[in-house]
Amino acid sequence: MSDFYALVPAAGFGARMGNELPKQYLDLAGRPMIWHALSTLCANSNIKTVFVVLAPEDEYFARYDWSHCKDKLAPLYCGGKTRAESVENGLLASELEPDDWVLVHDAARPCLSAHLLARMIAELRDDPVGGILAVPVADTLKRADAQQRIAHTEPREGLWQAQTPQMFRAGLLAEALARSSNITDDAGAIEALGLQPKLVASDTSNFKVTYPQDIVLAELLLQQGK
Ligand code: CTP
Ligand code: MG
Repeated sequence: MSDFYALVPAAGFGARMGNELPKQYLDLAGRPMIWHALSTLCANSNIKTVFVVLAPEDEYFARYDWSHCKDKLAPLYCGGKTRAESVENGLLASELEPDDWVLVHDAARPCLSAHLLARMIAELRDDPVGGILAVPVADTLKRADAQQRIAHTEPREGLWQAQTPQMFRAGLLAEALARSSNITDDAGAIEALGLQPKLVASDTSNFKVTYPQDIVLAELLLQQGK
């Protein structure tokens, strides 16, 4: 039986948030943003260890009290220049077995619910490839031309928005990331190997906090218990 681990890339600066304090440490419902996802991951009884990939010069993480995560939390100060590099470095430093499952989750998705996390593990634990949380696209999609006018409407049938966690075997993901370039999520690296990750239906509450206006919505959801 293989084990389950989480790996949280948290070495970004949050440029689009436009704050001096890195996005993952901004106050969200009385806690640093990263606190919420780490707490949800640590509370899952299947997950053995939650690796947090931090920038080598990170001086914030160690200031907070993580005692409620017991001994499950493992900070790794090996973040890279891109998210993919941070995940790749973190996987190497974690020394997981190739067959271990690893759930890669953005520190900037604080509203992940315990129930979606449990559902994803249950749906994928016997899957030969692994998969990701995702939501079917709800809005009508427009293709823009160079003048920012609508060139045409894109059919949205069969289109999904990728979220995290993204759950793969540690060995396969490390190999996929080592071979890939220009990918924006972990599944993209697996796809480049010719494999087809499974889409596990999620909901929009698990959105990524990117811009200042996202903070208010995330706080509302967190206060409602998601
Ligand atoms: N991340 C990382 N290492 C990087 C860049 C991003 O670990 N070099 C992490 C972020 O900390 C975040 C997750 O990847 O938890 C998703 O990235 P994103 O939401 O884009 O965060 P930032 O890159 O920090 O924000 P921005 O793109 O606005 O600068
Ligand atoms: Mg980014």
